[in-house]
Amino acid sequence: MSGTAAGNGEAAPADRPALPDEIAELTDLSNREDPYPYLGKLRERSPYRPFENLVVVGRHAQISAVLRDPAMSAARHRAASSPTPHGPRTRNFLHLDPPEHTRYRRLVAGAFARRKVGNLAPRIREIALELFRGASETGTLEIIDDLAYPLPLRVICELLGVPFEDRPLLQNWSATLSTALEPPLGPSAGRMTPDAARARASFVVYFQKLIEERRAAPQDDLISHLLGVEEDGQRLDDHDILATCVLLLNAGHETTVNLIGNAVLALLRHPEQFDRLRADAALAPAAVEEVLRYDAPVQMTTRVVRQDGRLGDTDLRAGDTVLLLLGAAGRDPDVYPDPDRFDIGREHAAPHLAFSAGPHFCLGAGLARLEVAIALELFGALLVRPRLRPGGTAYKRNLNLRGPASLLVDVDGVRTG
Ligand code: HEM
Repeated sequence: MSGTAAGNGEAAPADRPALPDEIAELTDLSNREDPYPYLGKLRERSPYRPFENLVVVGRHAQISAVLRDPAMSAARHRAASSPTPHGPRTRNFLHLDPPEHTRYRRLVAGAFARRKVGNLAPRIREIALELFRGASETGTLEIIDDLAYPLPLRVICELLGVPFEDRPLLQNWSATLSTALEPPLGPSAGRMTPDAARARASFVVYFQKLIEERRAAPQDDLISHLLGVEEDGQRLDDHDILATCVLLLNAGHETTVNLIGNAVLALLRHPEQFDRLRADAALAPAAVEEVLRYDAPVQMTTRVVRQDGRLGDTDLRAGDTVLLLLGAAGRDPDVYPDPDRFDIGREHAAPHLAFSAGPHFCLGAGLARLEVAIALELFGALLVRPRLRPGGTAYKRNLNLRGPASLLVDVDGVRTG
């Protein structure tokens, strides 16, 4: 691969500096199917500075340390290369640092905990059963449209209190907004596209109205709980609630879609592992953990260096963006023996980093784990002889939120009993 190729497999515009080979390979669209050899090269070079102001980190131990390091900020707008140096337009707590992050997150976690995740299992099962049965008539399932999108979307909408009929709108905005989560791997990458900005504006208008409705008539849903939550005299203002709704809907949905897609693919490509799951449904939670390690739905996140320092043999300068390759950490041979082997019975010597670590550890990890374990258990139990349709899998263009855009599975039937 030539060092002059730009990301997404397109030729570099004249005003853009050439990407180094390792980055060009990773961002090349034709490598979406299996980015792990390229992530592996970056891991071996880690920490690695491909451009001014950017350091790429791919080793499990280094990523884990950066995520827990108070000298690293989650306020991405502070980066020297940030296209929005004055701050994000919506202030969600994913981009805040302690102590502000701690206060804000605690309030949201308090509201979230009002609906105990474990108690949602029967409802999640009911929705998943309905989706499998609804898709059963053709002999082919489009896993993404029939299961992976609707299941987490319905769950998060029901939790938030979003009316049933509005889900298609939100699905559309959410998918568009995800394109803004791409990594800062080229001079113009990581910027919000006009479509993504419009999707965010639509979300804001939508949730403003819903927040007003819930304030006038509270219900047993997350928006009403967010409006009512209070700790040590602290409350969330409307702006915080709005940003949290968008974050929960987007973070809680696009990611889980990809985890379901990646899981179905991994299981059907490793039939012996799928057989183990079918023989013992209690392995479903372990299968979910192994997919998170093996093919992480969120491949990357970033931090900004607050003050000059060092990571390994690399100098860090204040304002540098540190790109953390969570997907590469899952295949780190220093932590996981034979890391490219998919094994649902594997003992994980160290926790995977697919849900991050430290203060920003995913707030919805428990919910995502539960949803996907139920989906996999039913996938194993209900489908008769599921197999991948040759040529029926296509990957999304996204580099960060990794998963199939379409995934056709042929079946001989769906058990309804
Ligand atoms: C497979 C599914 C999921 C994956 C892989 C995932 C991954 C992540 C990651 C990597 C982060 C931290 C990013 C960072 O450190 O910069 C994060 C944060 C977060 N996630 Fe998830 N997530 C998933 C599902 C969910 C769900 C279902 C929800 C909620 C319903 C959710 C809500 C959040 C929130 C609110 C944060 C921000 C936490 C903070 O900044 O303190 N996520 N997630």
